[in-house]
Amino acid sequence: MSEPAPGITRFEARRPQTGGAEPPQPCVMVIFGASGDLTRRELVPSLFELALQGLLPDPFAVVGYARRDIGDEGFRSAMRDAVREHGSFDEDTWKRLESCLFYVSGNFDDGPDGAYATLKDRVEEVRTAHGVPDNVFFHLATPPGFFTNIVERLEACGLARSDGGWRRLVVEKPFGSDRASSRALDGHIRAVFDEEQVYRIDHFLGKETVQNMLVFRFANPSFEPIWNRNYVDHVQITVAEDIGIGTRGSFYEETGVVRDMVQNHLLQLLCMVAIEPPGRFDAAALRDETVKVLQAAQLSPFDPEHDAVRGQYGPGTGKKGSVRGYREEENVDPSSPVPTYGALRLTLDNWRWAGVPFYLRTGKRLQRKLTEVSIQFRPTPHLMFPTGRDNPECHLLTFRLQPHEGILQQFVAKEPGPSLTLRPVTMNFGYAEAFGIEEPPRAYAWLLLDVMEGDQRLFARADWIYEAWSIVDRLVGHWEDHQPRDFPNYAAGTWGPAEGDRLLAREGRAWRAV
Ligand code: BG6
Repeated sequence: MSEPAPGITRFEARRPQTGGAEPPQPCVMVIFGASGDLTRRELVPSLFELALQGLLPDPFAVVGYARRDIGDEGFRSAMRDAVREHGSFDEDTWKRLESCLFYVSGNFDDGPDGAYATLKDRVEEVRTAHGVPDNVFFHLATPPGFFTNIVERLEACGLARSDGGWRRLVVEKPFGSDRASSRALDGHIRAVFDEEQVYRIDHFLGKETVQNMLVFRFANPSFEPIWNRNYVDHVQITVAEDIGIGTRGSFYEETGVVRDMVQNHLLQLLCMVAIEPPGRFDAAALRDETVKVLQAAQLSPFDPEHDAVRGQYGPGTGKKGSVRGYREEENVDPSSPVPTYGALRLTLDNWRWAGVPFYLRTGKRLQRKLTEVSIQFRPTPHLMFPTGRDNPECHLLTFRLQPHEGILQQFVAKEPGPSLTLRPVTMNFGYAEAFGIEEPPRAYAWLLLDVMEGDQRLFARADWIYEAWSIVDRLVGHWEDHQPRDFPNYAAGTWGPAEGDRLLAREGRAWRAV
């Protein structure tokens, strides 16, 4: 990337810090579910990545809490393996991080005088030994059924309060299983923590390209004037995964694709495309605007029969050969009605977007991993060139989240030669070419840093969660009342059920060919 011209702002590589966030503060992170998958796959590798970049606060400590009795040494050795497996490794950095890791074993529903009292003592001991001020955040990386228990125990054992420092609570998804249960869960949490202390995490918001959608729209003047119903034909949001449900059968049987992916990740992406420009880049302004997007979606009519398609994968082909169908997966009911694919057509009832369809689709065991948001612009009103018809694929702007994060703009160009032949071409912004990085940093790393900085911009506020549930409750309720008769209806390794294509085809559109 060339040096910026004089007078042009060089944006901070990490992300624009314009919202009054504080630097990461020395603190203790308490991980509930420390022997679980999320801690291994994301949390500790992210801390390691922050340590590698010199971004972890100093002093800093982690106290893991889980049922298995593995002790500090067992925890450290498991985390060392996890970090080696999930990213680049550096022995010196690891040694420094390792010396900050501690572990307490206990049940999540132990009484406040049992393991929670031990946890409290351990946090105190670690703080004193490492000179950490009384700042503690609790990361709930457990099955959601334990959230309420843990919060109540934290209050009862006295860990939830501090006189001189701060307490913060990070909650993983799914936050409830419908609007009513998310409100009930919030009630329990808010009896102990204020909204300003609660960080409802959605790792999609930490992805570089998702944040770049905001920068692209609001730091560049050229697209905003055409970002509306007059110029946009429709929007497509695809979050396709080639993996199945792996070892998460019991979780998935409870959750299904809509609660797992649509209620959070896909609706967050929708908000990033459709949001009005906030006056300031701070948590209140940004989150006010995202809530308004969901309110506009709720105002709009939605008929689950007509505007949504569900699917479940059967046996087929994965990356490494034949794979089994969903109903044959471990801990899955052999006649399970749970969908692994969902496609929806939503509209937003507001001035900017009235009449513009937003097509959302996501699924497991699809042909390949692909996450992207495409804005399809309307064709030119009159094509003066005699050669051929206007091709809608030519007026496309795509935010690619994975793989190969970047932004792609398709437009029409003249093919070199004596005749006037029009060809779609692509302008491509990729992180590798522009910033010299092959792999963008882990979303979780940025979000954990935000928690340490007290920055809630990229975390869902309670009212957003309620609105998101209201949108998907209409769909999930309908699907649960009307059992599917054709499951499994797509083979693993395909792009999902044919009905998913018809959702667009009946309106003369098609999913972007990839
Ligand atoms: C998680 C879902 O939130 O997101 C998983 O629970 C899904 O089912 C994952 O696989 C996808 O995340 P990413 O970052 O790999 O697209």
